[in-house]
Amino acid sequence: MISEQLIRTAKSLMDGHKGLLAMDESFGTCNKRFAALGIPQTVEMRRKYRELLVTTPQLNEGISGAILFDETIRQQTADGTPFIKVLTDAGIIPGIKVDLGAKQLAGFPEEKVTEGLDGLRSRLVEYSEMGARFAKWRAVITIGDRIPSEGCIEANAHSLARYAAMCQEVGLVPIVEPEVLMNGGHSLLRCMTVTSRLLQVVFEQLYKQRVSLEGILLKPNMILPGLEAMFNDPVAVVAEATVKCLLDVVPDTVAGIAFLSGGQPAELASARLNAMNRDYGSDLPWNLSFSFGRALQQPALEIWDGKDLNIVAAQQALLHRVKCNSLASAGLI
Ligand code: 13P
Repeated sequence: MISEQLIRTAKSLMDGHKGLLAMDESFGTCNKRFAALGIPQTVEMRRKYRELLVTTPQLNEGISGAILFDETIRQQTADGTPFIKVLTDAGIIPGIKVDLGAKQLAGFPEEKVTEGLDGLRSRLVEYSEMGARFAKWRAVITIGDRIPSEGCIEANAHSLARYAAMCQEVGLVPIVEPEVLMNGGHSLLRCMTVTSRLLQVVFEQLYKQRVSLEGILLKPNMILPGLEAMFNDPVAVVAEATVKCLLDVVPDTVAGIAFLSGGQPAELASARLNAMNRDYGSDLPWNLSFSFGRALQQPALEIWDGKDLNIVAAQQALLHRVKCNSLASAGLI
C-alpha cells in the first residue's frame, strides 16, 4: 500500500498542463553538450548553467517538477541558496536521477543495461531527506538488425521495476523511463513494434514487483522513425502511432505520461505532443505531458554560450519552450 502523499505528488507533477524540466545530465553528458559549444567543462560552469535554469522567472507557470543530478542537488546559487530551495520556493517539485548509467550487458555485445540497484535504498533515503519527492531511472534500448533481444528488454524492465518498488517504499514517485533510442535507420513501424514489446514487459515486471501504478509516471519515447531513416512521417502520423501504442499497453491506472524528447528538434517535439493532445486528449485515461531535456534546454544553452551577459536571453528562450510545451500539453498550440 503506497501513501496518499505519494499519490498526491504524482498527481501534482501532472496537473495544470505542466511538465517536467529534465536537467539531470550526468557530468559526461553535460560536458559533451558544453564542449560542442566551446563552453569550459568545469564544476563551476555546470553550476552556473543550472543556476540559470532554476532561477528562470515564471518557470513554475509551465514546469511542475525538475529532475536534478547528484552534483546539482548538492549545489547552490551564487548567493548561497540551495537549488532545491529555489525550486521548492517557486512551487516546483524537486526530483533526482538515481540510475548510474547504461553499461554493457554481459553476453549481449551490442546492448546495454542500466546499473545502480546496489546501494540504491540508502541513496533514495538520502535524497528524500534532502527534499527530493520523485526519482528517475532511464533504460535505453537500441534498434538494430537483430536487436533488441528479449534478454536485454527483460533485464532492463526488471531493473526498472526493482527501482520503482524501492522508490515507493521510501515515498518517492518513480519516473519509469524505458527509452527506445532514435539512433538507426529503422521505420516508425519498427519503433512501434519494439516500443510496444518493451512497455509490455516493463508493465509485467512492475506488476510482479508489486509497484502501484497510480504512484508512478511513465516517461516513454514517442513513436518515430530512426534518425538516419529516409522517412519523414508527418506529425499526425507520429501522434496517431504514439497514442495507439500507449493505449494498447499502458494500464489506465498509471498516474501520467510525460515524454522524453530523445533528440527531436525542439519545435517538432512540441508539435507532436500538441497533436496527440488536440486530436486524442479527451479519449485518453492519462494526461500526456513532457519531461524534456534537450527540447527544453538546447536553445537556451546555445544562447547562454557560457557568458553571463546572455543569461537573461537564455532564460527567455527556456521560458518560451516551456510555454510552448505547456500549451502542447493542452493541445492548444
Ligand atoms: P531528452 O528530452 O533530451 O531526451 O532528455 C530526457 C531525459 O531525461 C533523458 O533521460
